[in-house]
Amino acid sequence: MKSAFMCSAAFAALMLAAGAARAESLTLYCSADEAWCQQIKTGFEEKTGITVDMTRKSSGETYAQVRAEASNPKGDVWWGGTGDPHLQAAQENLTEEYVSPMRGELHDWAIKQAEAAGNKTIGVYSGALGFGYNKDLLAKNGLPEPKCWADLTKPEFKGQIQIANPNSSGTAYTTLATMVQLMGEDKGFEFMKALHKNVNQYTKSGSAPIKAAGLGETTVGIVFMHDAVAQTAAGFPIVTVAPCEGTGYEIGSMSIIKGARNAEAAKKFYDWALSAEMQGKAKDVKSFQLPSNKAATVSELTPDLSTIKLIDYDFKKYGSSEERKRLLGKWDSEVSSLPQ
Ligand code: G6P
Repeated sequence: MKSAFMCSAAFAALMLAAGAARAESLTLYCSADEAWCQQIKTGFEEKTGITVDMTRKSSGETYAQVRAEASNPKGDVWWGGTGDPHLQAAQENLTEEYVSPMRGELHDWAIKQAEAAGNKTIGVYSGALGFGYNKDLLAKNGLPEPKCWADLTKPEFKGQIQIANPNSSGTAYTTLATMVQLMGEDKGFEFMKALHKNVNQYTKSGSAPIKAAGLGETTVGIVFMHDAVAQTAAGFPIVTVAPCEGTGYEIGSMSIIKGARNAEAAKKFYDWALSAEMQGKAKDVKSFQLPSNKAATVSELTPDLSTIKLIDYDFKKYGSSEERKRLLGKWDSEVSSLPQ
């Protein structure tokens, strides 16, 4: 009797273990806004029954984590965030090649991103860089309406501007790389130094400055235009600006981490994340990027990239390991170290 009981208990334990081994899971590193990351986690769990362990960190921070974990990878998929650090990760062999059957449904710019990286990354969304300001604070401080990048370096904007740190944030790195491409390297750095005098805080996350502007903690936030639009949609007095000189843009990207423990679940996620169904839901959490799937529903609040003066952003060059390291090093030593 006793041994029969022990036998069945052992059998039950065995079955449990087998069940646990069968239950699929996925570790997701997410570099877009928290609300969208949460929506994606829940959406994938509901769709597939695969449990998702999600961590939200900025683009540069996630790149650094994936690199630090390379000898013992913990993440499976890195979804979202600006494309430059995804390209750097691809070049450094930190991510895995994968050609999704969904690729035919995507815009050319998303596929070009994959082609630039030997298929180790792909575009999931796009959006133009710009800035936003709190119109109530602007009026209260008697400041002129800023329309151009150059306006942000005027002395009257001292202490009125917030931007993220380009080491942690893809948004801020895109700003740095945009200025270098728009103005040439010397003038681009002169601009960053002049801007530095007016910056009240360098945040970790790219969209934090415009959330702070919404709350009245800073007048101007340099962010992707869709992040400024999201604050207006949330009821804050934010005006979005497409800078008069022209601007850069991002190709938000996705990569499978090299040595992913849950490689099959990672591919399922990857294919799902390229679907029109998944991408069309972004607007429900006020994420107004342009989706990479041509058939995904686009919100009428999504900034129309065809009406914005965009530079011909060289993603391959500014996402290369050498150039990204060099520009960040130069920003650390020549810009952020300056007194304000
Ligand atoms: C926000 C934007 C995304 C962008 C991301 C980059 O979430 O909505 O379009 O990719 O910022 O984040 P980071 O914190 O790296 O600047």
